[in-house]
Amino acid sequence: MENRLFELARRRRSCRRYTGEKISDEIVDEILKVALLAPSSWGGHPIEFVVVRNKDVIKKIARCKRMGADPLTQADVAIVVMANTSNLELWIEDAAVASTYILLAAEQYDVGACWIHIRNRAGQSLSADEEIRQLLSVPDNFSVLNVVALGGKGENKSARTEKDLARKNIHREKFSLRY
Ligand SMILES: Cc1cc2nc3c(=O)[nH]c(=O)nc-3n(C[C@H](O)[C@H](O)[C@H](O)COP(=O)(O)O)c2cc1C
Repeated sequence: MENRLFELARRRRSCRRYTGEKISDEIVDEILKVALLAPSSWGGHPIEFVVVRNKDVIKKIARCKRMGADPLTQADVAIVVMANTSNLELWIEDAAVASTYILLAAEQYDVGACWIHIRNRAGQSLSADEEIRQLLSVPDNFSVLNVVALGGKGENKSARTEKDLARKNIHREKFSLRY
C-alpha cells in the first residue's frame, strides 16, 4: 500500500550543515502554508512565525542560545516559532505541531532543516527566549518555542527504514500486549 507520508517521514532527518544555496521565497512560502494548516488547540491557529533571511540577524539569533545553536550560523533562513502565551494553555503543543509540519514540508522540497530548541534554554545573559524576543522586537507576552533552520543540504544522512521503527512502543489494546 502506498504511504507517501511514510516515504517523506523516513527521509526527513535533522540537517545541521548547509551548502549556502538560496532557498527561494516561493519554497519558504509553500513551507509556511503547510505550517499554517497544522492542527491547533481550539482550532485557534495561534502560532506566529518570524521568517529571518538576513544572515547577520540569523547569526545573532544563534548567539542568543548559549550552547547548541551552531547549525543556525550556516542557515539560509531561520523561522522563529512563537505564540502569545498570555492566554494560551496549549501553546507548546500548538507550536510543536506547527514546527513538525515545517520539518516535513521542508523535506518535501529537499530542503535541509533542523529544530533548534529555545524554550527553557539559556542565552548569554537572559534566557534564549528573552534575547531572541529583544533582538526581533517581539512583544513581552509572546514566548519562543524554537527556531527552525533551513538551508541547502550540506550533509547526506541515510533515510530511516522499517528496521528503524520502534515498534515495541506500540501496544495492542492493553499496555502489556505488543502490537
Ligand atoms: C523538541 C526537540 C528539540 C530539539 N532540539 C534540538 C536542538 O536544540 N539542536 C539540534 O541540533 N537538534 C535539535 N533537535 C533535533 C533532534 O536532535 C533530532 O530530531 C534527533 O536527534 C533525531 O534525529 P533526526 O531528526 O535526524 O531523525 C530537537 C528535536 C526536537 C523534537
